[in-house]
Amino acid sequence: MTRAASNAGYANEVDALFERYESRDPAGIHKPWVHLFPSAPARILDIGAGTGRDAAWFASLGHSVLAVEPTDELRERAAVLHPEPEIEWLDDLLPSIPRVMARGETYDLILMHAVWMHLTQDERAVGMANLSKLLSTGGRIAMSQRHGPVPKGRRMFDVSGEETIALAAQYGLSNLLNERAESIQAENRANKIEWTKLVFEKT
Ligand SMILES: C[S@@+](CC[C@H](N)C(=O)[O-])C[C@H]1O[C@@H](n2cnc3c(N)ncnc32)[C@H](O)[C@@H]1O
Repeated sequence: MTRAASNAGYANEVDALFERYESRDPAGIHKPWVHLFPSAPARILDIGAGTGRDAAWFASLGHSVLAVEPTDELRERAAVLHPEPEIEWLDDLLPSIPRVMARGETYDLILMHAVWMHLTQDERAVGMANLSKLLSTGGRIAMSQRHGPVPKGRRMFDVSGEETIALAAQYGLSNLLNERAESIQAENRANKIEWTKLVFEKT
């Protein structure tokens, strides 16, 4: 049996995704954990960067961003919408992210906003091992995990915060934030969707 790809469904909905994702205010989205983000200028890796909303926000704050997005239809249009020189776009895929790994760089912050729940348990194990190598000392990972019904055509798993904290601990990453809350979007709230926000630090 062929397993659905982790980014299944995204390429078919590009117009709607640009409208939805770009209409959201990144300062509002990141308010619950922005106090744990590095001050500018920092080197940021945004994995599953989507339409580039967050990459552009980081660039506007004085950071430089490597924006990784495997869905061609999203990445190519995002690079046109957000042509800031502080953002570099890269086609790569968790868990192995071979092109990112080959660069040999480290990052002050790795953001994975609404991405981790697309990976299987085995992929999450490989992914965390790679992410831990990409952090500078004192560097942080900020990730959000979705809970609730899976949208038609997507591939998602319900991952608990505790599972991710235990996995991160295997790579010496300490947990700074573990907060589960209902979605801030009315439609998602009505569908009982919740999000867990997690922040880890490499000490
Ligand atoms: C829910 S969207 C979130 C996009 C963006 N981070 C945001 O918050 O607007 C999930 C994104 O993860 C990407 N994605 C899915 N599987 C991935 C993987 N294995 N590695 C990296 N990105 C992935 C999808 O293509 C999509 O852009």
